[in-house]
Parts: sequence; C-alpha cells; structure tokens
Amino acid sequence: MENEILENTQSPIIAPSILSADFCNLQADIDMVNQSAAEWFHLDVMDGEFVPNISFGMPVVKAIRFRAEKPLDVHLMIVQPERYITRFAECGADILTVHYEASTHLHRTLHQIKDEGMLAGVAINPHTPVMLLEDVIEDADLVLVMSVNPGFGGQKFIERSIAKIEMLRALIDSRNAETLIEVDGGVNLETAPRLVAAGADILVAGNSVFGADKPAEMIMNLKNAR
Ligand code: DX5
Ligand code: ZN
Repeated sequence: MENEILENTQSPIIAPSILSADFCNLQADIDMVNQSAAEWFHLDVMDGEFVPNISFGMPVVKAIRFRAEKPLDVHLMIVQPERYITRFAECGADILTVHYEASTHLHRTLHQIKDEGMLAGVAINPHTPVMLLEDVIEDADLVLVMSVNPGFGGQKFIERSIAKIEMLRALIDSRNAETLIEVDGGVNLETAPRLVAAGADILVAGNSVFGADKPAEMIMNLKNAR
C-alpha cells in the first residue's frame, strides 16, 4: 500500500478537501474525485476544541472509504489525537496527520500511527516554526504546512508559508529524509506553482476545486500549474 500511496510523479499530488464538497450529495463529489487526476482524498476532522469548528468524524470517514477509490488522507484537527489512532485505521484512513500543537508525545504518536499500518503526518499551524520538527523529521512520512489558520475552508493564503516550505525542504534534504511536504489552505492557480517551486509535494485544495465550474478540470490545472 505504501508504494501505491507514494507513487512518484513529477507533478504534485493533489488532495481535494472534502470539507468544501456538497454534503447533501457527497457521492457525486466522491465520484468526481475518483474519476479525476487527483491522487488522494483529504478529509478534515475537527472537534470544536482544537479549532473553532466541528466538521465530521468516524462514520463519515468510513462511508467515504466505501465509495472512494483513492487513499484517504485524514487531517485530525483535534486535541489528544492519540486517543483515536486505532479507530481511524479501522475506518479506512491511509494517511493520518496529527497537529504538532495538539500532541504532547508526538514521537510516540507518529510511531503508533505507523504501527497501525498508516502513513504518519504532522501538521504545523501558521505560527509554528518549521525548526521545531528537527528531532522528528525522520519519523514523519509527511509534514503538513497549514497556510491558513485551521478550521475553515475558503480563507486567504498566508504568504509566509512559502518561506516555511523552503526551510522545510532544506531541513528534509539536509537529512536525506524522504518526508513529503503537504500544504493546506488557500491553494489555487496563483499559489500552487509557487508552492511547488518552494518544495511542496502535495497540494490540498478545497474551495478552488469544489467552487470551480469544472472541478475535474481545476484539479488537472492545479496539477500542471507552473
Ligand atoms: C482547513 C482545512 C483545509 C481546508 C482547505 O482547516 O484543513 O483542508 O479544507 O480549504 P481551502 O482550500 O478552501 O483553503
Ligand atoms: Zn486539512
């Protein structure tokens, strides 16, 4: 599964964020992603405590698993995420990302995620310096750089994220690590090429995809944005 998930491509992996999909007709949006050039589904789980919003939880992740034909990239915006690692594995998550700011024992949590057979990600909020990851960079399969404050789709991209991705790229390369860089928030045709040039491997896109007249075409355009 790991090789399949990390299938190498020249262009970035695109992970449409289901938070911006039509919750009254999720099936249609899932099928659109299935048939598109996107590689992953990005699922945002929020608890109303770590972030000022509540989205969806296990039953919805499980339902999406039945219909989705691509890996599920689950982004946990919840406190004490270590409580639910096994449950999300059972729901069919392929990649599980926890927040640095929510994980007291991050090293242990990352390894617990891997032990459950998932790829392990760590997300950092806009105010969290990349260098705080120095001692866990080899333990994470991916680092998710939040380029907006987590909690909502459709927010304005925080420009500083570009410099953070460049620093993260330098850190990863200096250690000869394989850690992937994912960016989440405000990804569109203007920011995507700059993010890829800075070193991003995975682009999460909510509003720009699901708000587009032709979402599948937008996915392709984001993938090829130069
Ligand atoms: C925000 C979520 C994002 C969100 C991105 O907290 O983590 O995944 O859906 O939405 P856009 O692409 O609209 O900024
Ligand atoms: Zn997200």
